[in-house]
Amino acid sequence: MAQRRKLAAGNWKMHGFQPDLGQVRALADAHPAPNCDVLICPPATLISRMSDALSANPIQVGGQNCAPQSSGAHTGEISAGMLADAGATYVILGHSERRADQAETDAMVCAKASAVSAAGLIPVICVGETLEDRAAGRTLQVVGTQLAGSVPDTSQGGSIVVAYEPVWAIGTGEVATTDQIAEVHDAIRALLIERLGPTAQETRLLYGGSVKPGNAAEIFATSNVDGALVGGASLKASDFGAIIEALDAS
Ligand code: PGA
Repeated sequence: MAQRRKLAAGNWKMHGFQPDLGQVRALADAHPAPNCDVLICPPATLISRMSDALSANPIQVGGQNCAPQSSGAHTGEISAGMLADAGATYVILGHSERRADQAETDAMVCAKASAVSAAGLIPVICVGETLEDRAAGRTLQVVGTQLAGSVPDTSQGGSIVVAYEPVWAIGTGEVATTDQIAEVHDAIRALLIERLGPTAQETRLLYGGSVKPGNAAEIFATSNVDGALVGGASLKASDFGAIIEALDAS
């Protein structure tokens, strides 16, 4: 099996002001050399300052969205190249909150993912079913459709990350069971191999949805789970640090 370097990714969403950089400094001090990759995606306003604050540490910084275009008359938009210029190395795309609030479609996510790869960054492409989808037995169908539409044809498996985030588990305290996670992650791996060939063995698959210090170890022991995309618990250095430790130990 391909060796995939594990990834603990934090999604700060629309949280964080300059004083909150103290949390990443504390995290960096407590984890100077983690065995896994560590990523924090703050609001765009903090990317540059956060990457300066982390310059002597392996913790990486990412964006939460970007424009599909590289530049031009697109008021209010930020390109992948601009995120790279600010210090980002990854960009979260197609998070369910953006799919719901900004009506982002698979085609839009796909165009953004191409732009992110072209700028030399790594897209973290999010997929996940609603509670209604799950109750109707459509989980694998919905996730498969999102994956097919959101991952660019030209992707190299090792240069993309896919995050499975059941919508009903995000910010709710409700976590998918390890059987549910394994079923979807195994299906995603198989679909990616079908689509991208053997390089899909290198794609890191993250689980996201109420990952906390108390449930992380169990989730990280699950088939085809290569790390986590963490919302609420990434805001506090002590919580995110405990999740990093669980991933390092897995
Ligand atoms: P949560 O969010 O960990 O707060 O559930 C996860 C996410 O939305 O990425």
